[in-house]
Amino acid sequence: MDLKDYLHNRSALVDQALDRWLPGKSVLPFSLHQSMRYSVFAGGKRLRPILMIAASEAVGGTAQQVMHAACAVEMIHTYSLVHDDLPAMDDDDFRRGRPTNHKAFGEATAILAGDALLTEAFRLLADADANLLISPATALRVIELVARYSGSQGMVGGQIVDMESEGKEIDFPTLEYIHTHKTGGLILASVQVGALLGGGDEEQFAALSRFAGAAGLAFQIADDILDVVGDQSELGKDVGSDQARGKATYPALLGLTEARQRADELCNIAVEALKPLGAAAEPLQVLARYIIDRNH
Ligand code: IPE
Ligand code: IPE
Ligand code: MG
Ligand code: MG
Ligand code: MG
Repeated sequence: MDLKDYLHNRSALVDQALDRWLPGKSVLPFSLHQSMRYSVFAGGKRLRPILMIAASEAVGGTAQQVMHAACAVEMIHTYSLVHDDLPAMDDDDFRRGRPTNHKAFGEATAILAGDALLTEAFRLLADADANLLISPATALRVIELVARYSGSQGMVGGQIVDMESEGKEIDFPTLEYIHTHKTGGLILASVQVGALLGGGDEEQFAALSRFAGAAGLAFQIADDILDVVGDQSELGKDVGSDQARGKATYPALLGLTEARQRADELCNIAVEALKPLGAAAEPLQVLARYIIDRNH
């Protein structure tokens, strides 16, 4: 399997669908829709939607079956980035290769664009077209999962502990809590939703959940490492920002070498978890390596 082709193909499908479902720039209120589109179409990797598609395919489903949910998760992720960059949070100037949303549109618009992306995501999940071929019970389970892993006991929960830990000495369990919640949650939700909508059974759901738990944590460890050793033009966002703000990161707590080892171990755990799924899970296997070997 060629990873580059796979990423290119699947992200093109996601981009087309996002373009179709996000209100256009010429729909009122113009400034809000421009700001939402500015961040959504700034060149993100689309990793969460791609993982959802790959999980669906791993259990015999298709990309089309998960497209509404895949776009919803990407909108929630993009909202989390817009808010994460605000002066009140990480106060960053660059994201996805361009000035952050608040730098381009001002703070009030950036906050509202984030709010609207989050809300629009749930509209999309509840959309009649999204739910034509699934039972109401499955549709509700999907909505509940996405809400759970995005909210106060998921991504937002991780973000507050991240903020409260700035400049403090924290212990390892707190660090792991931050990473599994602020980042791992939405990755786990993406893979679980892919398994559900793709028609996977409970055993496949459990295997994919083990995969995503490890891959999600590995993803944030890699993000921390790239903040230390990455190249700003390749990454498309500020580097060195974590150290400047005294963030709780794996390299800060364990050092680079151990952080890399931990990411590697988690990648192996993720790949191991895919065994019961056989050859259909090959893309997920390749994605697990990409998560820790990427340079952006
Ligand atoms: C960045 O996520 C923020 C984290 C949760 C680590 P990505 O690295 O997936 O960012 P994009 O979507 O490609 O811009
Ligand atoms: C943010 O983690 C995770 C989110 C929920 C947005 P970071 O603050 O490390 O993400 P980057 O490095 O700014 O992308
Ligand atoms: Mg942050
Ligand atoms: Mg940040
Ligand atoms: Mg980071």
